[in-house]
Amino acid sequence: MATINDNYLKLKAGYLFPEIARRVNAFAEAHPEAKIIRLGIGDVTEPLPEACRTAMIKAVEEMGDRTLFKGYGPEQGYAWLREKIAAHDFQARGCEVDASEIFVSDGSKCDCGNILDIFGDNNTIAVTDPVYPVYVDTNVMAGHTGEANEKGEYGGLIYLPISAENHFTAEIPAQKVDLIYLCFPNNPTGATASREHLKAWVDYAKAHGSIIFFDAAYEAFITDPAIPHSIYEIEGARECAIEFRSFSKNAGFTGTRCALTVVPKTLTAKAADGSNVELWKLWNRRQSTKFNGVSYIVQRGAEAVYSPEGQAQTKALVSFYMENARIIREQLTAAGLTVFGGINAPYVWVKTPNNLSSWDFFDKLLTICNVVGTPGSGFGAAGEGYFRISAFNSRENVEVAMKRITEKFKG
Ligand code: MLT
Repeated sequence: MATINDNYLKLKAGYLFPEIARRVNAFAEAHPEAKIIRLGIGDVTEPLPEACRTAMIKAVEEMGDRTLFKGYGPEQGYAWLREKIAAHDFQARGCEVDASEIFVSDGSKCDCGNILDIFGDNNTIAVTDPVYPVYVDTNVMAGHTGEANEKGEYGGLIYLPISAENHFTAEIPAQKVDLIYLCFPNNPTGATASREHLKAWVDYAKAHGSIIFFDAAYEAFITDPAIPHSIYEIEGARECAIEFRSFSKNAGFTGTRCALTVVPKTLTAKAADGSNVELWKLWNRRQSTKFNGVSYIVQRGAEAVYSPEGQAQTKALVSFYMENARIIREQLTAAGLTVFGGINAPYVWVKTPNNLSSWDFFDKLLTICNVVGTPGSGFGAAGEGYFRISAFNSRENVEVAMKRITEKFKG
């Protein structure tokens, strides 16, 4: 009889967001009259920028023309898109990233998981707590952990607690770790990393031969000019960091799917025989074998983000969500809640009132205010007692949701 990957049996009941959806659906079924507002999953609500739509429509027309039709594209992405990404997102910020080091993909979530394909099974792995659950679960699936304890912490992983005391930025570990996941602006806490903080991580990684997985999916939401957008703004990062980026949140591509991963050609890790192997070569080999590229139509849509119109339209989208974040912060603060994030990130991290557990607060908001958020404990044990509110929604929904919450919690 066929056998399974037993590591899947170690996973906690459900991936966080499907579990939330399950609870919300059950409530909605029992209360069909409730007008539920979803500020849980960080999924965009506003339409695709016009520049992207126009480019995609044109690409669809080309696909209907025998002379312009495209079959398989390059697994790494079309050169015209990779060159624009390299120029606008990296070189314009002084980062030494070449177009050939950019791999266009169908999502940062996929890449964050897939990247483990090219690493060994004996690495020591560090994640922050709380953390985007994909980093943890993909390591569980790959057999890189032991079982979870009652707090949901997996044996074998190093958890670096982040809290208000350390401004939601982890202390550099005392011990050696091989792979480190960093996410800035942070999901779920909305925290950012200063240049000095990132420099400390780069220095650490270089000293220990570690690799940093730097998830910059929310970089477009940075409003403070002093905060780095890319880890490659830090000297030495080309020797120790892989960066993940996405068109999902800045250009509304969550349903359209386009992202990118940067693997510098200067990055190496050890083979079993002790030799240093270029990670770029391995990732290129992996992608060429297991991935056939993002559709031509979608890549043309992503390319349009870099046109003058696309730049203006994506900027407007980001500002729209950040105004939502401001409203959420202000209203919740006025209601007496303690909030973090939401200034350089589309997530507001809220301390639950009256020491309620994260899931108790989730149930309270759902049943009393008909508002959905994300329980902090779903991001890790240290997220207990916190709650994440996403700024991705219409202005009206955000305003109504805040009114319902403030009316309930004020005083
Ligand atoms: C979230 O809500 O944390 C995001 O939707 C995660 C993601 O983009 O996969």
